[in-house]
Amino acid sequence: MTNPYDIAYQQSIEDPNTFWAKAAEDCHWYKKWDRVLDDSNKPFYRWFSGGEVNTCYNALDFHIENGRGDQNALIYDSPVTQTIKKYTYNQLRDEVARFAGALAAQGVAKGDRVLIYMPMIPEALVAMLASARLGAVHSVVFGGFAANELAVRIDDAKPKVIISASCGIEVARVIAYKPLLDKAVDMAQSKPSACIVKQRPMEAAAMIDGRDLDWDDVMQDAQPHECVPVAATDPLYILYTSGTTGVPKGVVRDNGGHLVALKWTMGAVYNVEAGDVYWAASDVGWVVGHSYIIYGPLLKGCTTIIFEGKPVGTPDAGVFWRVISEHRVKVMFTAPTAFRAIKREDPQAELMKNYDLSNFKALFLAGERLDPDTLKWAENSLGVPVIDHWWQTETGWAIAGNCIGLHQFPIKEGSPTKPAPGWNLQVVDANCNPIKSGDIGALVVKLPLPPGSLPTLWNNDQGFIKAYLEEFPGYYKTADAGFIDEDNYVFVMSRTDDIINVAGHRLSTGAMEEVLADHPDVAECAVLGVDDKLKGQVPIGFLVLNAGVTRTPDEIIKETVQMVRDRIGPVASFKTATVVKRLPKTRSGKILRGTIQKIADNKPYKAPATIDDPVILDEMTEALTGIGYAKAIDRYRVCKGENLG
Ligand code: COA
Ligand code: AMP
Repeated sequence: MTNPYDIAYQQSIEDPNTFWAKAAEDCHWYKKWDRVLDDSNKPFYRWFSGGEVNTCYNALDFHIENGRGDQNALIYDSPVTQTIKKYTYNQLRDEVARFAGALAAQGVAKGDRVLIYMPMIPEALVAMLASARLGAVHSVVFGGFAANELAVRIDDAKPKVIISASCGIEVARVIAYKPLLDKAVDMAQSKPSACIVKQRPMEAAAMIDGRDLDWDDVMQDAQPHECVPVAATDPLYILYTSGTTGVPKGVVRDNGGHLVALKWTMGAVYNVEAGDVYWAASDVGWVVGHSYIIYGPLLKGCTTIIFEGKPVGTPDAGVFWRVISEHRVKVMFTAPTAFRAIKREDPQAELMKNYDLSNFKALFLAGERLDPDTLKWAENSLGVPVIDHWWQTETGWAIAGNCIGLHQFPIKEGSPTKPAPGWNLQVVDANCNPIKSGDIGALVVKLPLPPGSLPTLWNNDQGFIKAYLEEFPGYYKTADAGFIDEDNYVFVMSRTDDIINVAGHRLSTGAMEEVLADHPDVAECAVLGVDDKLKGQVPIGFLVLNAGVTRTPDEIIKETVQMVRDRIGPVASFKTATVVKRLPKTRSGKILRGTIQKIADNKPYKAPATIDDPVILDEMTEALTGIGYAKAIDRYRVCKGENLG
């Protein structure tokens, strides 16, 4: 043993009961647990069974009782509305308790679901914490999703109440949320008994009598509600994420394990203390928002920031530096794409010179692979450690990272450093045999997963087993491929399924294909993610049209682009498609997505031996060149008859 990381890691794997019990001592319990790790119903492991907690209590009231009532809990910084508003722990607790009272008045009680579809305003955070206060289960849906996606989530979660706002603001555009909500409720089978809507001054929403309630009115009439103790194993929230089909998966998070793990990560992973200012520039609709805009920082007693803006354009590429400087941010967390956007606008980081960043100690990035250019640019311009860490909606916190609160390791480009304590990460082949260090295989985690990770999928235990546990018995499948080198550094290379990461947002190409296939003129289609300088990846579509279609390809492409926007949402960034005569397939009928992707990205490829007709790859190359990809393709040769490299 040479450093605190090694000691923590070893104990977390060999004696998780002692390791996590110690972390749990830091939290408030109405009743202590009977068992730390409950493995009585494998493979459904539970943490802190028999214990009783309230997550909202731990996030707010606990700190007030420990003297932090007058410290800022939340800073709302909104360059798009020119607003900065601060809430102390006392003020935030009072708002949350009142809103919990308002929800209770609508009949919301322990175990009921509350769906939240809101922009980045403080009310989103208040709504989530109020739901937690009542022991209800919140499900936040990202604002960039379309009505159809919202309807699917309403039908799965069956919320008693939905909370929304009249509009969001995307740079300078006002995006009306309420019509999308109304459409989604119309489409859904499951109807909420009430919708509570925060009316924003930029655009008022039309209200439906008998169903819709104004946020301000319900707050005025509400009585504060106390925290309701719940079982540590009870669900705190459901967060839907893309799966391999158009049906999203409802990732469940429990109360006890989540609170213990997240509070622990604030010190061990991010090296922050109570009282520090911590800023995650993400959205409450994503897991980063759940874990590190809301729960992590508040459980630790930090000041968190809810930022309603973009890295560029609100008003310029200096806004991150302004926020860090003005609010004395110690640690920031965002996605590499945000830094690529800033670097593109201000390559010399000139705007940074206008701000005092002396309080800033570390930048954490996640959500997609951190490319070396972005890493170097951020390191050179900021002069603080830039730390890549790898995690997923399912895991709730980092599977691998440089846990600087324990020990800071040297950085290796392209690696999120080492497995975090609690994660018994392995690399295996298709038969679940271990692979030697340095070789690429499936990244899997030996069960049990640590606290804070998903215990199951909402109302879908079998789906949980099928999606994550079946393929590699005894292990959780991350669906990422990669390797671990001889120094135990982890390298995450690519997904093994059809998930792509667009501007740090996780999307399913399968879901997009389902939409395209619904176009009456489309006989067959494929969507895949190709390299993009700003967003990391973007989806592009290939359409094979029905015989006898007389309309122009341009018309049809335009319609399919609109269909994806309407049915999945603008967040899909689906803007490019092309019509082809046929799709390249193996003789068994599998579309050669990997090969098409390599052609698009100008990477060397080999035509697989099993390909139906290799000439088709030349046709694909031509089609890709027509939409601005595969430009350097003549540098590579299609090698007929060879196996896929
Ligand atoms: N509500 C409504 N629409 C939204 C939305 C929301 N909450 N969020 C995004 N959209 C829309 C955007 O306006 C855009 O619409 P458009 O096609 O009409 O222009 C579309 O969805 C795509 O959005 P996005 O992928 O965010 O692209 P962008 O060009 O607007 O911004 C970045 C690009 C890089 C600046 C931005 O994605 C970003 O800041 N990302 C990094 C941080 C982050 O959120 N990471 C997530 C996990 S950590
Ligand atoms: P999400 O569930 O939206 O957080 O997306 C999770 C996926 O994003 C992972 O399975 C990875 O494919 C990818 N990802 C997240 N963080 C990283 C990282 N640091 N490096 C490489 N890929 C990452």
